[in-house]
Amino acid sequence: MHKKAILVAGLLFTTILVIAIACSDSKKNDTGTPTGGGSPTATGGEQPFPDFGFMLTPQQVADSGYKVFRLSQDFPAELPEPKLPEFFNIDFKKDWRKYLLAVQKYCFEGNTEVDFRVHENDIRSWYHMPWQHYGPNGREGFHGLTKEAPVQPQQLASGQNFATSGAWAVGFFNDVAGYTIGQVWKDHDNPVAANMGSGFKNGAVLFKILFLSMPQTVAEQQVPFLQNGIWWDAYATYNFNSSERTHIKVALIQMDIMVRDERAPNGWVFGNFQYNGKMNKANKWENLVPVGLMWGQDPTNNTNQSNPKPTQTIINTKLVETIINPDTTELPPTHLGWNGRLNGPVDNPMSSCYSCHSTAEYPQGSPISPLFDADTLKANPVGSPGWMRWFSNLKCGTPFDSPGYQSTDFCLQMAEAIQNFTTWKATEGGLFYKDYQNVPKAQANDKAPKAEPAKPAKVFPLDRRNI
Ligand code: HEC
Repeated sequence: MHKKAILVAGLLFTTILVIAIACSDSKKNDTGTPTGGGSPTATGGEQPFPDFGFMLTPQQVADSGYKVFRLSQDFPAELPEPKLPEFFNIDFKKDWRKYLLAVQKYCFEGNTEVDFRVHENDIRSWYHMPWQHYGPNGREGFHGLTKEAPVQPQQLASGQNFATSGAWAVGFFNDVAGYTIGQVWKDHDNPVAANMGSGFKNGAVLFKILFLSMPQTVAEQQVPFLQNGIWWDAYATYNFNSSERTHIKVALIQMDIMVRDERAPNGWVFGNFQYNGKMNKANKWENLVPVGLMWGQDPTNNTNQSNPKPTQTIINTKLVETIINPDTTELPPTHLGWNGRLNGPVDNPMSSCYSCHSTAEYPQGSPISPLFDADTLKANPVGSPGWMRWFSNLKCGTPFDSPGYQSTDFCLQMAEAIQNFTTWKATEGGLFYKDYQNVPKAQANDKAPKAEPAKPAKVFPLDRRNI
């Protein structure tokens, strides 16, 4: 049944959408206009964006009473009143912990009560990025999670042998950030990357919560900090290499934040939290303990050091633009990023938040890490000047490659969303007769002199974070 559900995803999708519209609770905001996704009038009379790409059948959902993910897409048409959150008064370098917890609180308020179904939040508005439903790693329909990155054995804890887990995540944008999404996607059929301009406005807050796909009994045994966990329903898989999805449970493991803060030397502050059930907080979401924050990459530090199978957290005291939580009673052993730069437990130990995110542009002219593309790695070996381009202090709103590339201001979902849309538009999701004509047999092809055809500029995939 599940397999069938995947095969007829397109058809089902339409059905789900119709049901979602029919069931729309028509919650009103102060101005009397419908809020949240699924409304046919969302975003100025445009056809709404799809909410998700993979789910049980509508009948299965109806019979079980599960809640279904709804894309929050009623983006503000005007830049909201610049009323900055209170944490903009906290010095993030000096009071890094206070800052991180204040941002976390801002992201939690009104959301933990409603399981992050943000259209039900009555404290503040949050939005999702459209076009994350598309492709094999697209959003599932319980909570809008996308398939992210495989998790290696011992990456999380020394006893972790389960080898096929992956990270699944959902990202949220506050009203200031939502305004910029709306600018790019004003016309749902013609996203305008150039409307990013010089990027998000001061006060934009982006965050993401990440889950681990591992059976609960295994996780509780092999990854001790996941005991006393938060488990979400997901239409996902315990085998990251498989595209066959079923209804499973996944464990909260990590939270990421990005704040566009004018006080930061390059415009962005990145922060990270790791789940630790031992904290035993009354509100379990608060068991997400600070890992640290970064506002720069220490661009001259090119020592090749990483800690992919952590038994302790190795803090690099030479870094001056990353701060890591030194409290080992609170923070379980964690690998961090390249040479101790900030990264979370399900992130790549040879990268950093800033590094991957600085590449975000349309079209995506470089891989998010040189490690993910053999030719790029060959030309830019670890620690070389070329490699250090991924560890430079690129300023907010600046394209990684230029000219001809539009920065999506460190927002990889934006780059991916436009790329997904463009791919879909070019192919309508299908295969073409012409691609099957005049293809030389593999053997003949090998013998033929190798004439290099003119290649269009390479566009790199964004929909998956390899390790
Ligand atoms: C290996 C590359 C990589 C690393 C390292 C990485 N990210 Fe991301 N991040 C991505 C990609 C790709 C996306 C877009 C797809 C998605 O949502 O996963 C993303 C999405 C996000 C989003 C949602 C908004 C957006 O920009 O698209 C946030 C917030 C975020 N990451 C924060 C962080 C933080 C904080 C860290 C460090 C603790 C981090 N990321 C490390 C690749 C990375």
